[in-house]
Amino acid sequence: MPSLRTNLLFLCMCSLASGYHWPSPHYDVLEALLYEGRRVDGSNMASLQHPCKLRGSTQASIGAEWLRLAYHDSATHDSLAGTGGLDASIAFELDREENIGDGMHQTLSDFETFSNKYVSRADVIALGTTFAVASCGGPIIPFRGGRIDTYSAGPPGVPEPHQDLPTHTALFKRQGFDETDMITLVACGHTLGGVRSHDFPTIVPPNSDPTISNVNLFDSTHAFDNNVITQYLDGTTENPLVTVGNTTLRSDLRIFSSDGNATFSRLTLSEMFMQSCSNVLERMLNTVPSYVTLTEPIDLLHAKVASSHLTIEKGEFVFKVTFRLTQPIGTTIKSTRTVKILWCDRYGSNGDCQQHANSALPATLSQDDPEISPVTYHLGLFFVRYDFVLPIEPLLSISLFWFEVDEGDGTPPRYYDNNSTGYIVAQDQLLYIPSLSSVNLHGRNDTLKTYDIVAAVRSNAEPSRVYLDAFDNAMENYLPPLNISIDMKRNHSIPDAGGFRFYSASLNDTGTQLTVDLHTVINGHLFTEDFMQTFFIDENIPYTPPTAVQSTIIPAPSPSATSSSGTDLGEYRDIPIHSSILLRLLPLLIAALIIYC
Ligand code: HEM
Ligand SMILES: *[C@@H]1O[C@H](CO)[C@@H](O)[C@H](O)[C@H]1NC(C)=O
Ligand SMILES: *[C@@H]1O[C@H](CO)[C@@H](O)[C@H](O)[C@H]1NC(C)=O
Ligand SMILES: *[C@@H]1O[C@H](CO)[C@@H](O)[C@H](O)[C@H]1NC(C)=O
Ligand SMILES: *[C@@H]1O[C@H](CO)[C@@H](O)[C@H](O)[C@H]1NC(C)=O
Ligand SMILES: *[C@@H]1O[C@H](CO)[C@@H](O)[C@H](O)[C@H]1NC(C)=O
Ligand SMILES: *[C@@H]1O[C@H](CO)[C@@H](O)[C@H](O)[C@H]1NC(C)=O
Ligand SMILES: *[C@@H]1O[C@H](CO)[C@@H](O)[C@H](O)[C@H]1NC(C)=O
Ligand SMILES: *[C@@H]1O[C@H](CO)[C@@H](O)[C@H](O)[C@H]1NC(C)=O
Repeated sequence: MPSLRTNLLFLCMCSLASGYHWPSPHYDVLEALLYEGRRVDGSNMASLQHPCKLRGSTQASIGAEWLRLAYHDSATHDSLAGTGGLDASIAFELDREENIGDGMHQTLSDFETFSNKYVSRADVIALGTTFAVASCGGPIIPFRGGRIDTYSAGPPGVPEPHQDLPTHTALFKRQGFDETDMITLVACGHTLGGVRSHDFPTIVPPNSDPTISNVNLFDSTHAFDNNVITQYLDGTTENPLVTVGNTTLRSDLRIFSSDGNATFSRLTLSEMFMQSCSNVLERMLNTVPSYVTLTEPIDLLHAKVASSHLTIEKGEFVFKVTFRLTQPIGTTIKSTRTVKILWCDRYGSNGDCQQHANSALPATLSQDDPEISPVTYHLGLFFVRYDFVLPIEPLLSISLFWFEVDEGDGTPPRYYDNNSTGYIVAQDQLLYIPSLSSVNLHGRNDTLKTYDIVAAVRSNAEPSRVYLDAFDNAMENYLPPLNISIDMKRNHSIPDAGGFRFYSASLNDTGTQLTVDLHTVINGHLFTEDFMQTFFIDENIPYTPPTAVQSTIIPAPSPSATSSSGTDLGEYRDIPIHSSILLRLLPLLIAALIIYC
């Protein structure tokens, strides 16, 4: 008769198998760009602007340019018809008078390379505002993803300074903002940046040197603050849209005073200003066509499996995973801390940890610069990462894994195990092999890239098809994305290794953020490796050999240990995974025994 323990684990594994989705790439990718400020390959978007930088060439506020572009993209939304909004159509609308300005072109070029399959160009535009506002001292605007891009111009309708108040009120109303929202939104926009003589020479007179554009700021600072309001109210404002000689162009004056200063009087309190701006700017960024469903707000994950995949490197079958933890700024990691990964074999007599778990220490520990994202910086946190490279026996493989963080100071270790479910390795039949894949640059200015993508399938499997979906929406000049499906062919020039056979395909791309989804069909089952990156191991990413493996006996369930729920500090637990699973299943088993007997 199998042991009680085996039965429990068997039960447990059955219950885990259905409807399980891990990882959650859409959320993970949005979370990484928001809280790490950068692409997966390390190129940082936030640092183009943070900390509240001025552009070297023009001395204009980069954050102001980013915010203005987001407003102009969203302003053509028609809330009744459910059309327009933040959909990146602005990229095709810059020839319009209403969208005049060098800052608009520079912003689009800042943003060009940060979109991908899970982050639309419109999401990047929205993120730009989130970064800029946080970076310049404003609130952290809650961020949702899921905007859908269009690849052509939409209808016009961005407000212009010469229009009268009823026109502006109607345009804001069409977008879904009432008069109070309008006053608030304009003030929250016009706290950053200013008006330029090159763009509006009738508002800001040109310089004696016509090559330099004069910028007259809306208020006396570059910071996101309510000076735009207090200076208007105390009469010291130099806001060009309030003070310009030609009264027709005083659009801010008309809007600011349209309710007898009632809204502005409330916003003289800084906290009120920050809160109100967060609300209206969030609504502005979430102005989308009616066919778009945005994601839930993207919250910071205090403990995150930042990347994980099975692959083959130098002929060895390995599992690579990065575990990311937060650390308060100004504190250091305890030198006595050890962070271990634990995992279960997938096959064999020890499958699903029937006898023991395997464990290993991280291959490397790295700490991020606290300034990588102004959002995380404002939360007072930075990231530390533990990179693991595990040697995996092809015949045993890996089914699930979890982490143990032991501060080494006598406090009990914490277990990060996805609330006792463990992080499940969805499949081990199809692998992506970045270490054998490559890219060649050619064409004019290296803008054409030819990729050789290599995948591997278990030698004992008979796939009916191996193919990839390639996607890149980070195209030069916001051209339509690459979005193609290609069959992969058996590649006999690569000898079998680690119990796998190799397949490859070649493709051309002119964008900068190609990702591939690999697929294979084996016995009618589809196996997928989603959102694989195409920057490859080279001089910049040194090869890390796999670490040594230990074996850990999983403690038997102890009646004194009680189940603990996740906390906001990363959902850690203070008892190891299997004992807690066993504990949770104990009542079930007792019930089953009672029925059986
Ligand atoms: C009636 C509505 C509005 C009018 C007529 C208007 C007009 C203008 C004008 C004429 C400029 C100068 C642009 C340049 O010189 O290149 C400007 C700049 C700016 N606007 Fe507005 N605006 C309006 C509403 C808004 C709103 C709602 C926001 C955002 C929430 C916003 C954000 C900005 C920002 C950040 C700048 C500075 C850009 C920079 O310095 O590069 N505006 N606006
Ligand atoms: C004021 O600006 C409006 C709109 O641009 C223009 O039509 C008008 O001629 C200007 N008035 C003067 C006196 O320059
Ligand atoms: C609003 O404030 C401005 C600037 O202080 C002032 O000139 C104006 O008279 C005020 N309007 C009302 C209706 O109080
Ligand atoms: C974790 O599990 C506990 C109890 O099993 C549950 O109350 C809690 O909501 C779970 N948390 C998450 C994030 O799933
Ligand atoms: C965690 O487990 C739940 C099921 O309990 C699953 O839905 C979720 O996707 C898992 N998340 C991760 C990150 O493994
Ligand atoms: C096999 O893969 C290599 C990349 O490792 C590639 O250079 C080569 O062209 C591929 N051969 C075939 C026949 O696809
Ligand atoms: C290639 O680069 C040169 C110099 O950097 C530039 O003048 C030229 O316009 C570029 N060509 C293309 C096609 O981008
Ligand atoms: C890419 O192509 C697939 C299949 O044709 C389609 O369903 C999907 O909407 C396309 N994605 C984009 C962003 O165009
Ligand atoms: C990629 O482009 C080059 C140059 O135009 C061409 O010779 C080659 O056949 C293309 N490769 C693929 C896979 O389309």
